[in-house]
Amino acid sequence: MINLFSTLLSLSAMLFELSSASRCSPSVIQTTKLVGASILQIQAQEIHNYSATSLGPGRNDVGRYNISFCNVTVTHTHPDWNDTIHTEIWLPLKGWNGRFQGLGGGGYSTGFGSIYLTYAVAQGFASASTDGGLGTGFGTSTIPTDLSWALSSEGNVNWGLLDNYATKATNDMAIIGQQITKSYYKQRPKYSYFAGCSGGGRQALMMAQKYPDVFDGILAVAPAINLQRFIPAGYWASQVMHDTGTYPAPCEISAFTEAATRACDRLDGVEDGIISSPGLCEIKASDFVGKNYSCHGVIQAAWSGSKLVSKQYGWHGLNKDAQISGYYVSTSCSNNGTCHATESDLFGSYFKYLVAKDPTFATNSMTEKQFFDALHTSISDYTSMIGNNDPDLSNFKGSGGKMITWHGLADEVIPPNGTIEYYENLLKGDPNAHSFSRFFEAPGVGHCFGGLGPVPNGAMSQLVDWVENGHAPAVLHATKGSNNTARDLCPYPLRQGYIGGDPRNATSFTCIG
Ligand SMILES: *[C@@H]1O[C@H](CO)[C@@H](O)[C@H](O)[C@H]1NC(C)=O
Ligand SMILES: *[C@@H]1O[C@H](CO)[C@@H](O)[C@H](O)[C@H]1NC(C)=O
Ligand SMILES: *[C@@H]1O[C@H](CO)[C@@H](O)[C@H](O)[C@H]1NC(C)=O
Ligand SMILES: *[C@@H]1O[C@H](CO)[C@@H](O)[C@H](O)[C@H]1NC(C)=O
Ligand SMILES: *[C@@H]1O[C@H](CO)[C@@H](O)[C@H](O)[C@H]1NC(C)=O
Ligand SMILES: *[C@@H]1O[C@H](CO)[C@@H](O)[C@H](O)[C@H]1NC(C)=O
Ligand SMILES: *[C@@H]1O[C@H](CO)[C@@H](O)[C@H](O)[C@H]1NC(C)=O
Ligand SMILES: *[C@@H]1O[C@H](CO)[C@@H](O)[C@H](O)[C@H]1NC(C)=O
Ligand SMILES: *[C@@H]1O[C@H](CO)[C@@H](O)[C@H](O)[C@H]1NC(C)=O
Repeated sequence: MINLFSTLLSLSAMLFELSSASRCSPSVIQTTKLVGASILQIQAQEIHNYSATSLGPGRNDVGRYNISFCNVTVTHTHPDWNDTIHTEIWLPLKGWNGRFQGLGGGGYSTGFGSIYLTYAVAQGFASASTDGGLGTGFGTSTIPTDLSWALSSEGNVNWGLLDNYATKATNDMAIIGQQITKSYYKQRPKYSYFAGCSGGGRQALMMAQKYPDVFDGILAVAPAINLQRFIPAGYWASQVMHDTGTYPAPCEISAFTEAATRACDRLDGVEDGIISSPGLCEIKASDFVGKNYSCHGVIQAAWSGSKLVSKQYGWHGLNKDAQISGYYVSTSCSNNGTCHATESDLFGSYFKYLVAKDPTFATNSMTEKQFFDALHTSISDYTSMIGNNDPDLSNFKGSGGKMITWHGLADEVIPPNGTIEYYENLLKGDPNAHSFSRFFEAPGVGHCFGGLGPVPNGAMSQLVDWVENGHAPAVLHATKGSNNTARDLCPYPLRQGYIGGDPRNATSFTCIG
């Protein structure tokens, strides 16, 4: 009797487990419908106690999480494009919060896979990430700079893959992800969100512009909009290095950043290593008298940007407290003291694959005219596809969407002024844009995170509160800067003003006009 009872118990436990496991199976999960695409394969398998270090886009609190989820992989193609796209949808086995979250990528990728998925699933979201058919991004933790997918053969752009990168694969991921979520839980997600930084921030803004009714809430961090301009223009300081044959040592470059930060630090009222009002920082590289720097032209190129030379084709520079030693002015020196350029593939790949359409193109031997001709070509060939800077968000507003955008003012890759300009254009078309889209400057924060400034780790929670409870973010709470700082970031055009007290304390600042 007792034996029979316990057998029955374990049998029912087994049945329960079976029913959970059998829900996560390709035969049960319904094939999705997507106009213009054919689904090639659906794989599904429960994963238990998966453990990985992870973070959300635009967060700096990397943590280790244990998650159990149904791992659905949808493989699809766009007939005639000859592409093969993998989209992973991770569905929490327990504690689904009823929400869906699409995650962006960065660099020349559309998704990072587990790095973002793990954190989002740990928060209870049904979450999705796509490789866009590009074969780059998944599993990497640095900015993916491989752009070889952009050519189908020498001289020929692979327009299908470029469209996947620009827009299509991200929307496909959202539609597929929402359908799979509904099929698995037998109910559609109550709310859908998108989060991305850098390239992912570009995907975020793109979704609001082009597919305005797919997401209820969008978090766009340090968006790589105006890609066709800021990427080739990011090579400007390298161009000046080659033009002048001046290759400053990394320590020399950093000395300029430190000196400029010291000179401008107090302009926001407090000395904390953070320049909160970069517009007031008018110091020039040539102002550092008494120093024997022959390379100030190169440094100034990174700060002023190429727009100083060509308003038409050039672009903004970086702020003075951004680490220009790295992406913008990258050199390395040998023991005998001679230094040479070590160019960033992020910028170099773009010239090779998308401008010259020749993988062997030598970026370091362009004349200044050739450089600006390349910028001109990039702008005329790619603006409509990868610019993603359409300031008309009336349809996103009309469908009730809410968006938070923030950009670190010490960003070392994407000049924050491009994002400021975009938000200005949004306000020009809709002076009430504030009611659904708010932009926050994050003083002292580098690209996506990093830098001395505090990072708004809670931006997604504040977005959820706005979408679901109507609580618009009056400020964006930022914490955990590398100097144990906290700040309440101000909605643009307001800026932070110091009012006294410990500058590491958020209450020591207020928002000023
Ligand atoms: C996962 O972890 C839980 C809690 O530690 C444990 O009870 C369970 O047996 C684990 N499952 C698998 C499949 O390892
Ligand atoms: C995650 O799982 C591992 C192995 O099962 C365990 O040692 C660890 O304590 C777990 N961590 C958390 C945060 O649950
Ligand atoms: C999810 O499934 C795909 C396809 O089978 C596989 O490539 C991937 O490694 C799986 N992810 C995890 C975390 O197991
Ligand atoms: C399609 O792509 C595969 C590799 O992914 C390649 O082998 C094949 O030649 C391509 N077909 C066409 C028609 O381009
Ligand atoms: C940290 O903050 C203190 C107090 O505001 C400031 O004096 C110091 O310069 C900061 N340290 C760094 C490394 O930024
Ligand atoms: C950014 O824009 C502000 C306001 O127009 C301007 O003062 C500042 O010089 C610009 N910064 C850069 C790096 O272009
Ligand atoms: C500056 O550097 C150059 C070349 O390195 C050297 O010839 C010159 O004497 C230096 N000038 C001063 C004032 O240190
Ligand atoms: C310094 O070293 C580099 C590499 O080791 C070499 O190419 C270069 O010719 C050397 N320059 C001088 C001036 O010795
Ligand atoms: C920050 O300010 C609040 C309010 O004035 C105060 O209660 C708190 O003690 C301060 N914290 C620090 C670390 O100074």
